[in-house]
Amino acid sequence: MQKILVTGGAGFIGSCFVRTQLRNYPDQHVVVLDKLTYSGNLDNLKGLDETRISFIRGDVNNPEHVRHALEGCDGAVHFAAESHVDRSLSGASDFIATNVGGVNTLLSQARAMNLERILLVSTDEVYGSVTDGSSKEDSPILPRNPYSASKASGELIGLSYFESFCMPVIITRGSNTYGPYQYPEKVLPLFISNAIDNEPLPLYGDGRNVRDWLFVEDHCAGIDCAFRKGTPGEAYNIAGENERENITLTRKVLSLLNRPDTLIRYIEDRTGHDRRYSIDSTKLKALGWEPKMNFDEGIAFTVKWYQENEWWWRKIKSGEFKAYYEEHYRERLDKSQGI
Ligand code: NAD
Ligand code: TYD
Repeated sequence: MQKILVTGGAGFIGSCFVRTQLRNYPDQHVVVLDKLTYSGNLDNLKGLDETRISFIRGDVNNPEHVRHALEGCDGAVHFAAESHVDRSLSGASDFIATNVGGVNTLLSQARAMNLERILLVSTDEVYGSVTDGSSKEDSPILPRNPYSASKASGELIGLSYFESFCMPVIITRGSNTYGPYQYPEKVLPLFISNAIDNEPLPLYGDGRNVRDWLFVEDHCAGIDCAFRKGTPGEAYNIAGENERENITLTRKVLSLLNRPDTLIRYIEDRTGHDRRYSIDSTKLKALGWEPKMNFDEGIAFTVKWYQENEWWWRKIKSGEFKAYYEEHYRERLDKSQGI
């Protein structure tokens, strides 16, 4: 492909995708369409070859913006989304507008454009909480919070365009992703940056919920593999194959930073907190992808990145995020228990 659209390309995973596309496909141009919401950040694209990126500040819910961004593109990878479960519990309207309506706007505009491929980036959270074993692509979709329900709805809209209009829509369902440039509302950058500052780490519930950790470059390689080699109308799981309880992950961060476990605070749980996510990515592996990053190395690399790049996260944590943190955590932290 000569020119692809990446929506949400100024976010955490989208910016890594832009970076790795420029690295791996020297003849390809990338158009980024991003609204620059609270989690979008042009610092995430700093240092990239500007002659090969066209940045458009725009909204995936706006047909004009989307049409303009799609001009001349052969493919599109759709990352733009409201991405944080906790925020979806405080108010879901933006999640429905962007994660459901945005897919519809993108696909309805792309219909006239004859794109070769359109990939919708979704999440393992659409399967809901998994007690035993691992979800496969044909397992039931049972989302349990407004974020995951909005992503599942976006998937269904996407598949309806495949069925109704033969559009080449492919879906990926990645697991919890970590690495550089992740907005510090998510657990890893929040805990790493709090620990650097000797601030408490607010662990929800009993700390034993399980997430499967996927390094961001492995996630992007999986998306790229499905984008280029996947079959339209199909979904592909992208697993990190590193299932860990949150308490284990938390202790790992503390030990890498030489901080005491006494920084851990058990706070009142997130409502409807999914206990465990687990997916099987045999289907994507058959196309040639596999996760490359070893978990211990990936966490150590990530912790070091946040230690060496305070310029990136300190300005975020001292801005809008400060009010969010106070509102979301202060009362629960005041009532919390140490260990
Ligand atoms: P992020 O919040 O870091 O980035 C989202 C980006 O989308 C931001 O740059 C934001 O400005 C942009 N955006 C939001 N609303 C927009 C709109 N209306 N129009 C245009 N741009 C808009 O999120 P992320 O963690 O990079 O997630 C990217 C995608 O990957 C999302 O679709 C998310 O559901 C999915 N995903 C994330 C994870 C994870 O662990 N972070 C795991 C699996 C799937
Ligand atoms: P998060 O990074 O919000 O991702 P998701 O909800 O999409 O899995 O949370 C990852 C896990 O960490 C999840 O089980 C909730 C937990 N968590 C905490 O214990 N404390 C926190 O402050 C946050 C943000 C998350």
